[in-house]
Amino acid sequence: MPRLFSAGGPTLTEHERRFGPLPTMGSQQLVTSLDQAGLTGRGGAGFPTGRKVAAVTGRKAVVIGNGAEGEPLSFKDAVLLSRAPHLVLDGLALAADAVGARNVYMYVPAQLVSHVEAALHDRRAAHRDRRRVIVVEAPDAFVAGEESAVIRRVEGGPALPRDRTVIAAVSGVRGRPTLVSNVETLAHVALVARHGPQWFRGIGDPVEPGTMLVTLSGAKIPGVVEVPTGTPLSDLLGTRAGELRAVLVGGYHGTWIPASAVENGARLSRSGLTSLGGSPGAGVVHALSASECGLARTADIVAYLADAGARQCGPCLNGLPRLAQLLGEIAYGRIDDALLHDTRRMIDQVEGRGSCRHPDGTARLIRSALDVFADDMASHRRGRCRALVPATAGSRPYAAEIK
Ligand SMILES: Cc1cc2nc3c(=O)[nH]c(=O)nc-3n(C[C@H](O)[C@H](O)[C@H](O)COP(=O)(O)O)c2cc1C
Ligand code: SF4
Repeated sequence: MPRLFSAGGPTLTEHERRFGPLPTMGSQQLVTSLDQAGLTGRGGAGFPTGRKVAAVTGRKAVVIGNGAEGEPLSFKDAVLLSRAPHLVLDGLALAADAVGARNVYMYVPAQLVSHVEAALHDRRAAHRDRRRVIVVEAPDAFVAGEESAVIRRVEGGPALPRDRTVIAAVSGVRGRPTLVSNVETLAHVALVARHGPQWFRGIGDPVEPGTMLVTLSGAKIPGVVEVPTGTPLSDLLGTRAGELRAVLVGGYHGTWIPASAVENGARLSRSGLTSLGGSPGAGVVHALSASECGLARTADIVAYLADAGARQCGPCLNGLPRLAQLLGEIAYGRIDDALLHDTRRMIDQVEGRGSCRHPDGTARLIRSALDVFADDMASHRRGRCRALVPATAGSRPYAAEIK
């Protein structure tokens, strides 16, 4: 089954031995193939890739491979770039050809810069790329991979989101039409170009087919796996009934799913999680064991998110720090009606008010916690915590647990 991870190793020789030469494709041909394949972005939002490529029209276009991966619970892009850099670079070259790009960039964290540069060096020596690719270092920050932050960094500015009125496809890097694609998405583009849309659709959820990379963490052994979209969460986690309290899908901007839903067959795809209010995001699955306090976990994450905001807009400046404070009181203090009322009011106040989706993502996480951990809240109301690992103020935030 492995597709992205099916080469024997990361070198150009091993890559070409496994996948063969990269076909050349006209712009319309690539867009049609991507549309027929049903490929959606693997960077979090799940937007159809063919439509994104088709939207970039105009002169001197720019293409950026986004490997920033600022999400603390995700390391699938780092693993992909380490194991299959040439698949990503093939997808980048195809996208650049399709939009007639003048400038092409790879945006990756510091620890991957030399690895990607070495792969690009090998491709230049073998005359594989028509365009020079510039590697730009992504700072290690949660918002650094947001599309407008990526564009600002590539322009030489800070990696902070920007208030946008015009989409990047029309006006991105220095006002030029710009395509920002997640590195995993680009690797799938390279596979669609080689094997065709029907092959791509041969596996996974019919609505969003193919495979996806998933970063597992928490109560399960951390690791990155490639699975068909729509895989049951219970298969992924291999857990026994009663072992887990909940699962966080989609990362820090994601949604808590109760363990009962996992046991009842919830699947990791947009359609499989819609009824639970979730989405796979960038493929993050974090398991919370039955012995841990979900409210404490959420409070730790919200504290991290409040700190990670760029504090350029009201919700980041005031709303998220206040929400972090309220969640801290819910987890580590005693819950009463006034506290819950203030929390819900503050969630309403931050939602839809930021220039980027950071406040919305944080609000979504908190809403799901208040819903899924209702029983825990009832215990905290009585001044008790049901977890064997109870909420203790100042417990270690688990942001740095994996990376
Ligand atoms: C706060 C925030 C952080 C993000 N970080 C990343 C990231 O690290 N990597 C990424 O590919 N997309 C990230 N995104 C999504 C990007 O804005 C963008 O949608 C994505 O790179 C597009 O690629 P895709 O269409 O291939 O998914 C982030 C979005 C937000 C709101
Ligand atoms: S909402 Fe926060 S992270 Fe997003 S642009 Fe505004 S200040 Fe920056």
